Amino acid sequence: MPQTVRGVVARAKGAPVTVENIVIPDPGPGEAIVDIAACGVCHTDLHYREGGINDEFPFLLGHEAAGVVESVGEGVTDVAPGDFVVLNWRAVCGRCRACLRGRPWYCFDTHNASQKMTLEDGTELSPALGIGAFADKTLVAAGQCTKVDPTASPAAVGLLGCGVMAGLGAAINTGNVQRGDSVAVIGCGGVGSAAIAGARLANAATIIAIDLDDRKLEWAKGMGATHTINAGAGDVVEAIQALTGGHGADVVIDAVGRPETWKQAFYGRDLAGTVVLVGVPTPEMQLEIPLLDVFGRGGSLKSSWYGDCLPSRDFPMLVDLYQQGRLDLDAFVTETIGIDDVEAAFARMHEGGVLRSVVEL
Ligand SMILES: NC(=O)c1ccc[n+]([C@@H]2O[C@H](COP(=O)([O-])OP(=O)(O)OC[C@H]3O[C@@H](n4cnc5c(N)ncnc54)[C@H](O)[C@@H]3O)[C@@H](O)[C@H]2O)c1
Ligand SMILES: [Zn+2]
Ligand SMILES: [Zn+2]
Repeated sequence: MPQTVRGVVARAKGAPVTVENIVIPDPGPGEAIVDIAACGVCHTDLHYREGGINDEFPFLLGHEAAGVVESVGEGVTDVAPGDFVVLNWRAVCGRCRACLRGRPWYCFDTHNASQKMTLEDGTELSPALGIGAFADKTLVAAGQCTKVDPTASPAAVGLLGCGVMAGLGAAINTGNVQRGDSVAVIGCGGVGSAAIAGARLANAATIIAIDLDDRKLEWAKGMGATHTINAGAGDVVEAIQALTGGHGADVVIDAVGRPETWKQAFYGRDLAGTVVLVGVPTPEMQLEIPLLDVFGRGGSLKSSWYGDCLPSRDFPMLVDLYQQGRLDLDAFVTETIGIDDVEAAFARMHEGGVLRSVVEL
């Protein structure tokens, strides 16, 4: 029997989100219904509401979530009702050219549920990142459910479903930060702060946090930053060099995603160092840089989607580190809120006062 639950819907470009009744069909083959416990508010949800991702309104927002599997469809064997899971937007297909080459973290054909959730009048919903978890329950592909330690806090570990994983993975997977490295992170929101935590987990020796907002820099110290730079206070590249023996950092992570921050990353890195772009640029942004500098400085220029994570490999491991007290995921949860408070949380995100607001359901 289809069931009706509450969900946060963006009906039209720029319009405030509303809590609506949404209808969830029984899970079909390969699908699962998850009873959501907690879901973080990510910048990408706001991008959806503003029409910045695509025009497929109405959206069911929310995608950084943890919950308990309620029911599964035919053929589902990896998860079962009662399993505690973190939802992911990389349910690897196993058949695309990346998967077949043994690099599933680049999977080009990840799975979502094939049935649609709807409004009560039958209008089909587009779930954010194929998840839609600002809702009491949601319908996903079973591969989007990654089982983790059921005693962990849902509000904290749900954040691994997007922004925190993107930041941790930008440092650990894409940037391949090594013991003793120097790392600089530009932009210390949820994603950049997680990159700092990732650099600490990898035992980087020098970790430089860069932001325009002193509150973010203060939080970054708690995440593991050994030095901070206020980007409004002077030349960022010179400041990075001054903290790294005049050379620049081994790895510089751009968690803002603008041409000017990417250039700071490019010139703020040591010769043969690595730049990782994890912040998401907008379509009109352009980059102009002397090609000779690209050649002459060597090293690698990378971008990081979802921290190049493999959920089945990374989520349980990171939850275990959290449970052991080696990765402070609670520090990312600035506040917990109700399902009616998502619009207010967007405003606070804009104002800069939070790393993550988390909706508890
Ligand atoms: N690649 C991925 O898979 C992935 C996943 C999730 C989010 N993201 C993207 O990562 C970016 C950051 O997300 P977030 O949730 O941390 O956002 P956020 O808004 O919480 O944080 C952005 C931070 O950057 C700072 N900032 C802005 N301009 C700056 C500048 N010129 N110099 C230094 N600092 C500056 C802000 O003060 C803020 O602290 C966004 O673009 C988001 O879309 C990427
Ligand atoms: Zn694949
Ligand atoms: Zn996100």
